[in-house]
Amino acid sequence: MSVGTAATDSLPARALRVIPGGVNSGQRRIPGLTDLIVTGTSGATFTDAEGRVYTDYHSAFGPPLLGHNDPDVQRAVAEAATRLDLTGVAVTEGEVTLAETLVDLVPSVEKVLLTSTGSEATFHALRVARAVTGRRLIVKFQGCYHGWHDAVSLNVISSPEAVGAPDPISTGILPEVLAATLVLPFNDPAAVRAAFAEHGADIAAVILEPIPHNVGCLLPDAEFLTTLREQCTAHGSVLVFDEVITGFRHDLGGYQKIAGITPDLTTFGKAIANGAPVGALGGRADLMEQFSTRPGAPAFFAGTYNGHPWVVAAALETLRKLREQPVHEHVFRLGERVRTGLAEMYTRLGVPAVVTGYGSVFVTYFMAGGEPRSYDDLLANDANLFIGYRRRLLEHGVFELPLNLKRSHISYAHTDADVDHLIAATELAVQDAIKDGGIDELAGTSTMGGATEGTAH
Ligand SMILES: Cc1ncc(COP(=O)(O)O)c(C=O)c1O
Repeated sequence: MSVGTAATDSLPARALRVIPGGVNSGQRRIPGLTDLIVTGTSGATFTDAEGRVYTDYHSAFGPPLLGHNDPDVQRAVAEAATRLDLTGVAVTEGEVTLAETLVDLVPSVEKVLLTSTGSEATFHALRVARAVTGRRLIVKFQGCYHGWHDAVSLNVISSPEAVGAPDPISTGILPEVLAATLVLPFNDPAAVRAAFAEHGADIAAVILEPIPHNVGCLLPDAEFLTTLREQCTAHGSVLVFDEVITGFRHDLGGYQKIAGITPDLTTFGKAIANGAPVGALGGRADLMEQFSTRPGAPAFFAGTYNGHPWVVAAALETLRKLREQPVHEHVFRLGERVRTGLAEMYTRLGVPAVVTGYGSVFVTYFMAGGEPRSYDDLLANDANLFIGYRRRLLEHGVFELPLNLKRSHISYAHTDADVDHLIAATELAVQDAIKDGGIDELAGTSTMGGATEGTAH
């Protein structure tokens, strides 16, 4: 079929004709922003087709911790690309150096395998956990996202009535696969103990975001993480920290280093390569040795692009800069300034708000009360205002993703002046959003789930 490309066609219109929904990932078609065309990125900003420049706090859901188009990472990739292409045989020096670096940096990592995405890393973590334990069940937590594959495609941003029961984010998942994942509330040690008391002998793995950033920021209680470690050890289950967001962004050793809890397996992605497609799975040597990368081992593991020399070069350069430059000091300091400044502003305006986050990550929930501990607490968030002020922020050249509960990120390229502007612009945007009194298409902006109907059976 021929496809029209008349000069009058807008890019989104052309996209809609040939790409389902006009975008290549499920959370990129944003109600209210379907005409947005991004034509350039640089440092802390992106530019749209009309030449408007936005300070970017969405940051592609988290990868560019150094900022967009980091010149050193670009140089490293270009240099690798002129020297070495993918051959699909043996191993390259960069892969070995990257593995050595991860073993060196992250407490739980004794051996490591590279993937292209975070989803592949979490998929393989659960596969090997089942292979080693011979058990069926996976435990995850309401509000955590671990990628698109079936075992974890449930109970992320659920509507209030869907909490407490399986809430798939996709149709087409076998009911027996959904039934093999138990969903528990985050930060609830009693629920964890009860699940192990009932199903302990059948639990292959417990997987969690140590800070569930896919719903903004739920900080974990020490007792909760300790309970997970104790219960997994006592019952022979594999504890998986999904550090796809927290890894390298919060600390070179991951959040596990900050929390002092060592999981059995850890998954990485995003900030590991500043935006180049790299994921990784690392952990206990005896578990990692089960992958078919070792002759005769039972857990099949493969990927044409795994360890591609260009993206490995991006990861090595990113990690070098994170180690040698005061990146964390900078983004943590700005993160603190943002949180303090916003909290003062909301108090002054008399707007009920909880400003939270960790390090470079920040989010404001529009609700009364203290720091949220679980997804249930977040149901009180005023989604209208959460999305509404972010739409109004665009008028001030500031981009925070206008979807409910989404976190924002600070990079090494953001400045103190950016923070000043963010706080001033947010004040105006929030006041305007309150005056506006709501948005039209809340349905497409506030949940991710509810796909029960049509699920394969
Ligand atoms: C915590 C977490 N795990 C896994 C994934 C999946 O990673 P990817 O999108 O690279 O497949 C994501 C993606 O947002 C994530 O936030």
